[in-house]
Amino acid sequence: MKYPALISTLLWIILSLDAMAITNKNPVCMAADTGLKYRLGFPVGAAIKIRPLLNNNRYRAILIREFNSITAENAMKFKALHPSATIFNWSDADQLVDFAVKHQLRIHGHALNWPKNNPKWVMEFQGDSVAWEQLLQKHIQTVVSHFKGKVSSWDVVNEAFNDNGTLRKTIWLQKLGPDYLARCFVYAHEADPAALLFYNDYGQEYNGKKMKAILKWLGGLQREHIPIHGLGFQLHTSLRIPIPELQKSIQAVVRTGLLLHLSELDVSVRSKKGEPLLTAAASATQQAAIYRQIFTIYQTVPARQRFGITLWGIGDQDSYRNAKDADADAPLLFDHNYQPKPAYKAVQTSGQ
Ligand code: XIL
Repeated sequence: MKYPALISTLLWIILSLDAMAITNKNPVCMAADTGLKYRLGFPVGAAIKIRPLLNNNRYRAILIREFNSITAENAMKFKALHPSATIFNWSDADQLVDFAVKHQLRIHGHALNWPKNNPKWVMEFQGDSVAWEQLLQKHIQTVVSHFKGKVSSWDVVNEAFNDNGTLRKTIWLQKLGPDYLARCFVYAHEADPAALLFYNDYGQEYNGKKMKAILKWLGGLQREHIPIHGLGFQLHTSLRIPIPELQKSIQAVVRTGLLLHLSELDVSVRSKKGEPLLTAAASATQQAAIYRQIFTIYQTVPARQRFGITLWGIGDQDSYRNAKDADADAPLLFDHNYQPKPAYKAVQTSGQ
């Protein structure tokens, strides 16, 4: 071997060893184009919390590598943005939006009207129906206008139905009657006519009664030309998910022509009360199979109706489902150290 050839061979060996060392030190490190967002034929999102976004490099790296859509896990809710009648607090949400804009991530807004997230001042508000209507309108329109042009879609109303298909007896229903629901959409549309507007709920995907009631209500809105563009299935689910029911509900939404967002997906491995715990390996395998089924079924939705699938967090430690009892749920695609789990691989290769 000639002298320059020897040098270049040695250099190549040194560089290769170095690259291997980097990869071994940080196994999360993968080629740039292997992220889920490049693999699946629809947007893939994650619910994002502001603290780890600012403080955790691995969290940020996975977000940028894998996802092309985000939902603010809490920062755009009523309590966070509008903590008292006269104060709007934009700082966390704005930081999130700035990050998303910089990294070209779609931002799905969540949620303009969610009865479980009314601040104390709203619950204590005194006024006639005109004053209540103004409160509702002002909140929706101030928030949507603030993020106009950056947040391209909104969960306008979240969780308005009971499991038996009736409307929840929320403060909004009590003060304004059932038509407040449609007006939430009208107000959001007035503030940003380009934004896609969603109704979001849980459990309807395997509860015939709730699904039927929501579809009937959506059909009414469509007939009245109320600006509604899609439906979100939260899908906080488990190893016991009834897949045939999910399939049926997805097909029912497809028939409406609306967009379908699997908006808060996570699959808990927690055993049912009284049932024995699964081994870690068994639960990880079963979880991967469920994730694969969900992603595969979603690919049967016509492409024009696929708004995307959003995971409700990145690593297991970030999951809100662990709140009471750390570790028992492990519902996400990445583990506590942000390493991809079997579920990640299953999603990556779903539909192949
Ligand atoms: C949850 C967040 O993940 C938690 O951090 C917060 O404490 C409560 O709300 N359905 C929804 C989401 O629509 O907004 C909820 O998010 C989870 C259930």
